[in-house]
Amino acid sequence: MLKGKNIVVGVSGGIAAYKAVDIVSRLRKQGAEVYVIMTSSATNFVTPTTFREISANPVVTDMWDEPKNWNVEHIALATKADLFLIAPATANIIGKVANGIADDMLSTTIMATKAPVIFAPAMNSNMYLNPIVQSNIKSLTAIGYTFMDPDVGMLACGVEGPGRLPEPSAIVERVVSMFVRSNDLCGKKILITAGGTIEPIDPVRYIGNRSSGKMGYALAKAALSRGAQVTLISGPTSLQPPTGIDVRYIETAAEMQNAVLEEFNDSDIIIKAAAVADYRPQEVAVQKIKKTGESITLTLVKNPDILYELGKIKKERQLLVGFAAETQDLIENAMSKMTRKNLDMIVANDVTMPGAGFNSNTNIVKLIFKDGRIEEIPKMSKDAIASIILENILKLG
Ligand code: CTP
Repeated sequence: MLKGKNIVVGVSGGIAAYKAVDIVSRLRKQGAEVYVIMTSSATNFVTPTTFREISANPVVTDMWDEPKNWNVEHIALATKADLFLIAPATANIIGKVANGIADDMLSTTIMATKAPVIFAPAMNSNMYLNPIVQSNIKSLTAIGYTFMDPDVGMLACGVEGPGRLPEPSAIVERVVSMFVRSNDLCGKKILITAGGTIEPIDPVRYIGNRSSGKMGYALAKAALSRGAQVTLISGPTSLQPPTGIDVRYIETAAEMQNAVLEEFNDSDIIIKAAAVADYRPQEVAVQKIKKTGESITLTLVKNPDILYELGKIKKERQLLVGFAAETQDLIENAMSKMTRKNLDMIVANDVTMPGAGFNSNTNIVKLIFKDGRIEEIPKMSKDAIASIILENILKLG
């Protein structure tokens, strides 16, 4: 898959640095030529010799080293690289690149390259969630750098939360997907919905759900990188959409339906990853509801089932894909949704499983097709699942 590709792996200093050894090994098995640049703190975790042996190339650890016989100069790797992978990426290297600081070989080379750069962050969860780090990630994402979401779990420091380096297999898949992009969706218009809708109760309250929007945004990113023209219709979320896609923000199911119907005819592929509220308050109070009574009753009325409506007007040339978030009888429920809503494929997930569902960076899904075929996708990052979903949609076309 990666034959003839030059990949520079930047290893910065974190406990997950040892996993980069496995990543380099897997990249080589896929046929890539791999060059490793280590920050000086990374050398406290793994020795350059390990990376030299596993990559079969000299390892760069300091920009003031004498050039080696294979021409490691300041800029040589920046020019040679087809892709940069920074794994693990610490808050430090992310902060440096986001702020234009180039004071060692890794930061300098990243700054000098025109190749795509993927960051796979790994750090303590509080650091990862720190607004400074998040803002650096946002600003780098906005100018075209790619970030993988860290896995959630128990970290080496004993804290539980997001911050674990994604599995080496998922990282390598992401690298491969950057090359597979090959524009196989070029010329296709894709409409994706993401996030949850919210339904107002009064001017300050609403009914909502736990959808984070991560799956829909991952699909939008993956479709964009494969050359599609992407429209994303998004409920409220904290996520930053990648530049290059057309985003329309909505709040309620009715607003989502209007936006979707406006875009539907022009779309070749429609993926409804959004968690649409099935009901909304019958009446929205004009003023804030006061707590005068011991209890209050809200009457909810049914929202339109947008996907069902789309299934009715779908044209032969269009592919319609839905999601089914279930807590029981996964396959039966998903299959009946697929038939009822006239879908070409449904992505089913049991949201009660650890590592699957709404607010997770990973998911565990089954792809179910019209002909009854089922493909089981084990737990992996939502980015990796997005690629697999798109590949399967392409096969349907
Ligand atoms: N969907 C939709 N409009 C709705 C409800 C759901 O377009 N009002 C779409 C979702 O975007 C998703 C699919 O239908 O792609 C399935 O959503 P889900 O909430 O799992 O199922 P429901 O059809 O709402 O059925 P139920 O809540 O009874 O499981």
